[in-house]
Amino acid sequence: TGKVTLDTGFVNTASCTSAITYIDGDAGILRYRGYPIEQLAEKSSFLEVAYLLIHGELPAEAELNEFTDSIKEHTLIREEMRRFFDGFPRDAHPMAVLSSGVSALSTFYQDALDPFDQDQVEISTVRLLAKLPTIAAHSYKNSIGHPTLYPDNSLSYVENFLRMTFGLPTTPYEIDPVQAKVLDMLFVLHADHEQNCSTSTVRLVGSSQANLFASVSAGVNALFGPLHGGANEAVLTMLNRINADGGDVNAFVRAVKDKSAGTRLMGFGHRVYRNYDPRAAIVKNAARDVLEQMHRADPLLDIAMQLEEIALSDDYFVERKLYPNVDFYTGLIYKAMGFPTRMFTVLFALGRLPGWIAQWREMINDPATKIGRPRQVYTGATEREYLPLEKR
Ligand code: CMC
Repeated sequence: TGKVTLDTGFVNTASCTSAITYIDGDAGILRYRGYPIEQLAEKSSFLEVAYLLIHGELPAEAELNEFTDSIKEHTLIREEMRRFFDGFPRDAHPMAVLSSGVSALSTFYQDALDPFDQDQVEISTVRLLAKLPTIAAHSYKNSIGHPTLYPDNSLSYVENFLRMTFGLPTTPYEIDPVQAKVLDMLFVLHADHEQNCSTSTVRLVGSSQANLFASVSAGVNALFGPLHGGANEAVLTMLNRINADGGDVNAFVRAVKDKSAGTRLMGFGHRVYRNYDPRAAIVKNAARDVLEQMHRADPLLDIAMQLEEIALSDDYFVERKLYPNVDFYTGLIYKAMGFPTRMFTVLFALGRLPGWIAQWREMINDPATKIGRPRQVYTGATEREYLPLEKR
């Protein structure tokens, strides 16, 4: 009650307090639990960062080992669940399959248990982290009509995912250490980003006391859209289109500025960053290095770099403070690794999972949490008399 303020898109509304991730959008700063993203990207690993986000501190060696082992114990999905994948159409988008898979986890693991029970939260956390790569790899195998592979727990988190995605049942899969390291680093970069669209969705769903699986599957769906996680897929579609049209970057930028074509420069702009996205700076260097190390020249990288250069010196983008965001260069790396474009947003989801879990857990442990229930400014009809059908 009281005065309602209209804030479409929640541009100026804080929905919670949080001690997890700090962003200074004007200075281009991102920190998880106080640690600069640049240091974590260079020195840490994905599971260590997941522990940091969820538990608040970097793990000691024994803690990290225990965390890793508990995840490895739960990588299998139930056989009944494996059969779900046969039922999806071959051309189903892997993100739709992924969110259905996460949603299905509550059919196997929640029963009538209290979703906020401490033990339940711990085991759900581990199950989600353990099973998401398995479900993601199955969604890919489903899309190409190949048999699924069981997890190999002798491998690291990322290596196991790569093998389940690209391996074949009959041939030993050779891990490429460069690929595994870069993918792990990209997961670190995506691991949290405070109250973005999908994370706010996870919190909103969870605020009704829905369980962790239900809340996270809603987050996956929010990430699906091209203005959010789907942007990494949209960037590659855009680069391919420019390439197919003869590579005229200037003409494309003109069409974006003109707005008549309804095209945005995908991978550019951010609600919070009004300066270079610090994640994009790291990904740009990685893209160059990875393509070089993998001996893959990609004309799309040249187009992306030209696009960036032209946009950054153009008044339209300068005035609006539009810079490349994390999605601008990631797709080129994923493509070099052999992922089809439709898997890109699934990779974003795998990376973002620890953030969703950490934020959901922070919310349920915060005594100030209330059910999320925004108000509105009503613009409809004033009171009017009901007319019977024959009089309308
Ligand atoms: N290309 C061209 N113009 C743009 C772009 C863009 N990518 N982004 C914003 N603008 C313009 C927009 O048209 C508007 O201009 P005007 O003032 O003349 O009407 C102005 O900049 C402000 O835009 P906005 O839509 O009010 O800004 P927002 O904060 O609501 O949107 C955004 C943020 C990320 C949705 C938007 O910049 C965008 O659509 N970018 C492209 C999609 C994208 O790359 N998304 C990934 C975001 S980062 C990772 C993630 O969250 O998944």
